[in-house]
Amino acid sequence: MTDVRDEPLVLGIETSCDETGVGIVRGTTLLADAVASSVDEHARFGGVVPEVASRAHLEAMVPTIDRALKEAGVSARDLDGIAVTAGPGLAGALLVGVSAAKAYAYALGKPLYGVNHLASHICVDQLEHGALPEPTMALLVSGGHSSLLLSTDITSDVRPLGATIDDAAGEAFDKIARVLNLGFPGGPVIDRYAREGDPEAIAFPRGLTGPRDPAYDFSFSGLKTSVARWIEAKRAAGEEVPVRDVSASFQEAVVDVLTRKAVRACKDEGVDHLMIGGGVAANSRLRALAQERCETAGIRLRVPRPKLCTDNGAMVAALGAEMVARGRPASSWDLSADSSLPVTDPHVPGTEHSHDHVHEVSKENLYS
Ligand code: KG4
Ligand code: ZN
Repeated sequence: MTDVRDEPLVLGIETSCDETGVGIVRGTTLLADAVASSVDEHARFGGVVPEVASRAHLEAMVPTIDRALKEAGVSARDLDGIAVTAGPGLAGALLVGVSAAKAYAYALGKPLYGVNHLASHICVDQLEHGALPEPTMALLVSGGHSSLLLSTDITSDVRPLGATIDDAAGEAFDKIARVLNLGFPGGPVIDRYAREGDPEAIAFPRGLTGPRDPAYDFSFSGLKTSVARWIEAKRAAGEEVPVRDVSASFQEAVVDVLTRKAVRACKDEGVDHLMIGGGVAANSRLRALAQERCETAGIRLRVPRPKLCTDNGAMVAALGAEMVARGRPASSWDLSADSSLPVTDPHVPGTEHSHDHVHEVSKENLYS
């Protein structure tokens, strides 16, 4: 049995959207998860403003790294590697993280690992429930993505089965919350109102669930329009909008489709583990319905706690540690941010071949 101290100690940096996340893990053990969010700065715009996010990352980066190191009680010199989200995400925001990771890795003489944001959302569950079974089906639902992915090796083989053809699931929550004047982000507040509403009060449409529709793709724009029209009609008639019932019925339409398609994918592919990640995985009804449907289908459900579902640095560190543990090559210094990095590339090596110069740098440690 391996001593836990032999497991790789990795720091992970995540800046793909509006969270500056820095996490530190040892193997599959979480040591620190520091997050600085610029969400309040975007609230008045009703969505994330890329330039505002980039500037906020720049300001938060060094203090967040220091906070994570302190929280973990480790020295930067003891790290076995530095992992960073290379994509997908907002180009300018990613660039801040990649540049910081390169600077720290170079100065400390540590290997650099560029990793995929979506694969990190899956890998983070190792910090909560231990080693990820292979294969695992993953339903990733957030403000930026809604995908069904089949992972047979989280460091090298993640296959996309389906994705949204229009809005992401979280985006639909945010837009409906805006129509209901509930503020941004919309998911948590709709979740709260829905608990007191009737999910069957209004029959909203389930997108792409017809017999000829693609089995694993999602669509939320028709649902969004239907809910907005329903609300407008109530207002035009001078009637009060039943916020709780609208929230519950809208939420039910989203989570019904998500869980139905995820369970179907597991059955079709013969996979008996489903993980759900991304910000929308924090949704209480999604968790409950997924649990119910997985139990009926004999599928083991794994959902990390909400703080690990939203964007964070721990997930990047978790995937980085897995890269080190499986002997994946470090990335070269020309690693670049790729805003549309496909999920089929969990590991981003860069284009130069040699990473040997890391060892030369380590002799004269530039970071004290
Ligand atoms: O993963 P995340 O923090 O950032 C992105 O990568 O997008 O996800 C944020 C999204 C937002 O759209 C937010 O409204 C949604 O996740 N969200 C929720 C809940 N908590 C956050 N959606 C539904 N129910 C929730 N409880
Ligand atoms: Zn994300």
